[in-house]
Amino acid sequence: MANQDDQFKKVISHAKEYGYIFQSSEIYDGLSAIYDYGQNGSELKKNIREYWWKAMVQMHDNIVGIDAAIFMHPTTWKASGHVDAFNDPLIDNKDSKKRYRADVLVEDYAAKYDTKIDKEVAKAAKRFGDSFDKEQFLATNPRVLKYTEERDAILKRLGQSLEKEDLADVKALIEELGIADPDTGSKNWTDVKQFNLMFGTKLGASAESATDLYLRPETAQGIFVNFLNVQKTGRMKIPFGIAQTGKAFRNEIIARQFIFRMREFEQMEMQFFIKPGTQQEWYDYWKETRLKWHLSLGLGSDNYRFHDHEKLAHYADAAADIEFKFPFGFKELEGIHSRTDFDLSQHEQFSGKKLQYFDPEENKNYVPYVLETSIGLDRMFLAVFSNALQEEDLGDGKSRTVLKLPAVLAPTKAAILPLVKKDGLPELSKKIVDELKWDFNVTYDEKDAVGRRYRRQDAAGTPFCITVDHQSLEDNTVTIRHRDSMEQERVAIAELRDMILKEVDMRYWLQKIEDK
Ligand code: GAP
Repeated sequence: MANQDDQFKKVISHAKEYGYIFQSSEIYDGLSAIYDYGQNGSELKKNIREYWWKAMVQMHDNIVGIDAAIFMHPTTWKASGHVDAFNDPLIDNKDSKKRYRADVLVEDYAAKYDTKIDKEVAKAAKRFGDSFDKEQFLATNPRVLKYTEERDAILKRLGQSLEKEDLADVKALIEELGIADPDTGSKNWTDVKQFNLMFGTKLGASAESATDLYLRPETAQGIFVNFLNVQKTGRMKIPFGIAQTGKAFRNEIIARQFIFRMREFEQMEMQFFIKPGTQQEWYDYWKETRLKWHLSLGLGSDNYRFHDHEKLAHYADAAADIEFKFPFGFKELEGIHSRTDFDLSQHEQFSGKKLQYFDPEENKNYVPYVLETSIGLDRMFLAVFSNALQEEDLGDGKSRTVLKLPAVLAPTKAAILPLVKKDGLPELSKKIVDELKWDFNVTYDEKDAVGRRYRRQDAAGTPFCITVDHQSLEDNTVTIRHRDSMEQERVAIAELRDMILKEVDMRYWLQKIEDK
């Protein structure tokens, strides 16, 4: 655990040191669970957003994108169920006065069994060497089976109590398991209570006439209320999807995992409108398609797993998370939800407007069912960034810190480095910058020895360093150094653009989704 904590601390401090993420309004001591993206972070975030948008909108001829407002008519949130049901079960510790999500306390407790199972697997793998069969071990080892059974029983009971809104049983479970305040060890708990997560605000000049509004807690509702506008003006035929990216706001209670759980964050959501009865088929399709998108970035297939929901949200008839192995363990990265006709039917009822589709094949009107894919952009950022940050042993007691971001997402694609600050090398380097900047984000760096500049760019995540030396003046060639392999090759300046493009072009990366 100490190791995980250390790694996570390194991620947070590296994100700050290299201009990726700063605490919001830091000079005033910050705001909890609110963050700003710096000069590199905003580029990485933009690239992730674009990678998602291209895969979802540009590559699907039946998916279009919108950009709805953050403020929505307040009845939207009555209809969606958020006013009544967008709650977290909270528990306070009477001694420390700290507040926790009761379900998370239990889930964290259950996750300890996963750590124990991982340890058993690691021990057995060492003992059996090449002949080790992990699947068989997990299915037969008595200790692992006992841990699995105990973990599943806890999660099942939690799921059932939450489903029945039996908050007294959630508290009973916490007490039976002997769960203590993670900060102080105290077991002196209050009862569990529900707490609404939406932020309220006001629209209007005077206090009397102002209307109560909410900051949207998800972007999805902006899509539902525009369903007919888009369907009619775009002459969309079912099945079709509407995508959007944008800010969402939640008054999260436990907000201690950096950008994993924020109060202001960004979502990338897609609602796919389908014929009722076809939801299972589309649920399977989108689970598979979204996993392929993740795998295309090469963060390692072992770092993903599906988690099927026991407790379904108020709108869903099936739901699964794609979980990612963050520095603090496997946690939800993206949700795939079969939302039935819940949202559109609710908006029909509350607005009094028909939100139906005329199906020419069936020759009838119906309220479409919806398959949703919903991923947090900031969470995706954390997945990519934490996976990329590595301390690499170079032998001879040497090491380097390297941020192995997928080249397609890296904020800066190449750094142009004159070997020395004289003899016309800076001038030639700046000419190369001026040429490449039409296609890529590039940077110029002439300070310090070239080895130190390489290290700086490795740590910032720049995939290529281009060194201009005296030979460059004679034959128009430069050295290109690859961040991950540290290999260097001599290439013609005229070839640089194509060489870089081959490795950073979204086309090359997105094609991997089709190939799989
Ligand atoms: N429209 C469905 C919806 O909003 P959700 O599971 O509540 O579903 C979807 O959220 C995704 O949004 C999550 O998988 C996560 O990636 C991201 N997300 C949710 N709450 C977040 C928060 N407080 N901070 C950062 N990301 C969050």
